[in-house]
Amino acid sequence: MIDLSIHEAPLERAVQRAREQNIIIPTFAQQRDPSLIPDAIKRRLSEVGLWDLNPVNLFRITWRNEPVVQGGGFGDVNYLELPREVTGVDARVVVIVGKWFPTGAHKVGAAYGCLVPRLVTGQFDPTTQKAVWPSTGNYCRGGAYDSRLLACQSIAILPEGMSRERFEWLEGVADEIIRTPGTESNVKEIFDKCWELRRSGQDLVIFNQFDEMGNYLWHYSVTGPAMHEILKRVMGPDDSYRGMASATGSGGTIASGRLPEGAIPPQQNLRQRGAAMPDAAQQRLRRAPHRGHRRQARPVGPQRQEHRHGCGHRRRGDHPNYAPVQRGDRQ
Ligand SMILES: Cc1ncc(COP(=O)(O)O)c(C=O)c1O
Repeated sequence: MIDLSIHEAPLERAVQRAREQNIIIPTFAQQRDPSLIPDAIKRRLSEVGLWDLNPVNLFRITWRNEPVVQGGGFGDVNYLELPREVTGVDARVVVIVGKWFPTGAHKVGAAYGCLVPRLVTGQFDPTTQKAVWPSTGNYCRGGAYDSRLLACQSIAILPEGMSRERFEWLEGVADEIIRTPGTESNVKEIFDKCWELRRSGQDLVIFNQFDEMGNYLWHYSVTGPAMHEILKRVMGPDDSYRGMASATGSGGTIASGRLPEGAIPPQQNLRQRGAAMPDAAQQRLRRAPHRGHRRQARPVGPQRQEHRHGCGHRRRGDHPNYAPVQRGDRQ
């Protein structure tokens, strides 16, 4: 799933560089739970701004930053509950907040999950290679930021039509910026440029978020437990968890919907396009009696659950929850 084979010589060079530049690389466990971070590092953070280009800010790649711009510590996961007057639905809707990451977006974590496994195995050599970050925005900003904190050279590739603020900020962070034609929807042009770079013979590693398992893994390891923390905090005895929804780009964040088995009460599940489910719910669906159940595209309420097991509907089309499969419906 993720290649962790060690390349000794580049790893030795990476360690040497980290020593020279006083870079300490946090573990995913520390990003998930900052109480594991040594006090000496917390003291250093008390003098550093949230977005500063200081390696100690690698420890601020967490959902648990104190919501302040300067010198903050750590606390609870940042979230907000949307009022019913705004959502217009009876369900409680709780949103996890990425604003208090350095760069202002959680994609700095996804990029960290891609670069760091390569760095600590010697698969990326910071003394000879450049890290390429293709994206329309936050992933590319996060990648450039992480590279800078980890003393790696970076190339940001993004469409020329993105905001002036984005480019101005990147100018102080990335080593090189490549502008591709178009704007937000011109993703193909970004990846055309990657092919061009690959063929140029330069020593590069292209961190394509769409095929880097580190992206998914970071969200599974760090964002998922943060979501679970929120549920534990906000859910009362009469509340039931219905599922997690994510506006997907690369499909990394949605990994956080895979909560650990038993993390939520077993009667709850949701299967909907664009929504992630806890593992327990997925396993129940795998055991469901026929495919008609697996394809249902709406939440299963108590009145429908009686149909879920051994309900005797022999043909899919007979089933009250059956919804025909659409092209491209696979999750
Ligand atoms: C703020 C924000 N939310 C969500 C996403 C999408 O997340 P993912 O790529 O993990 O599916 C992105 C970018 O892709 C983003 O910048």
